[in-house]
Amino acid sequence: MMKTTRADEANTTDWHESAFDIIRGLSAYTGSSLIEGLAKVVAKYPDADLGTAFNHKQVGSKIWARDKLFESLGGKFKHIVLLGGWYGVLPAMLFDDSRFDIALFESIDIDPDVAQVAETLNAKAGGRFRTTTQDMYALDYKALGADLVINTSCEHIADLPAWLSLLPRGTQVMLQSNDYFSEPTHINCVPSLEAFQAQTSLSHVAFAGSLAMKKYTRFMVIGTV
Ligand SMILES: C[S@@+](CC[C@H](N)C(=O)[O-])C[C@H]1O[C@@H](n2cnc3c(N)ncnc32)[C@H](O)[C@@H]1O
Repeated sequence: MMKTTRADEANTTDWHESAFDIIRGLSAYTGSSLIEGLAKVVAKYPDADLGTAFNHKQVGSKIWARDKLFESLGGKFKHIVLLGGWYGVLPAMLFDDSRFDIALFESIDIDPDVAQVAETLNAKAGGRFRTTTQDMYALDYKALGADLVINTSCEHIADLPAWLSLLPRGTQVMLQSNDYFSEPTHINCVPSLEAFQAQTSLSHVAFAGSLAMKKYTRFMVIGTV
């Protein structure tokens, strides 16, 4: 194993500080609430896996979701519930987009370590954003009363039809999965869009499509359960 020298440690610190300075500069340049939030996250949570959450494939998938959502269902929502919400990148992107008018965006994740990062990233949204730490199978969806339920982590949950059966009939949903079988945390990938549509069996489909990435293809459906 290679020994870490003082010079290595100093470089690591410098890189972290430089990243913070660069992102803060980008925030000033763009005026983006997402980039302002990201600078705060880099400062407060240097160990968060931001490199994965903000890689171009993750961001590309969410830009795709954002644009198809607007085309399919418009931009005005009272209460969006996002399951497997992770660091809250999708809510931050929708709050940053003037086409959307969202009264409350609730990000729910089973991992207690992600909530504070998501809240920091979405700090500018104030009371319009909140996090809940909970298993998505243990929620009372009727009581939540969402006008849109989003799950872009379908590849991470064991039984998609069982989870969908918990939603009140008529609930609007946006769902993503992928065929990235070789990633060890993906326990429920699908080989094709057709297989994903069969798993979700929506009563009405407003959009169904595929987005080819370098190593895998992402699938998305928007519609009603
Ligand atoms: C790696 S992330 C998200 C990946 C996805 N492609 C995205 O960005 O939308 C998957 C998240 O699902 C969460 N998760 C997995 N099982 C869950 C469950 N039963 N209830 C709530 N969250 C869950 C994990 O904690 C994790 O934060």
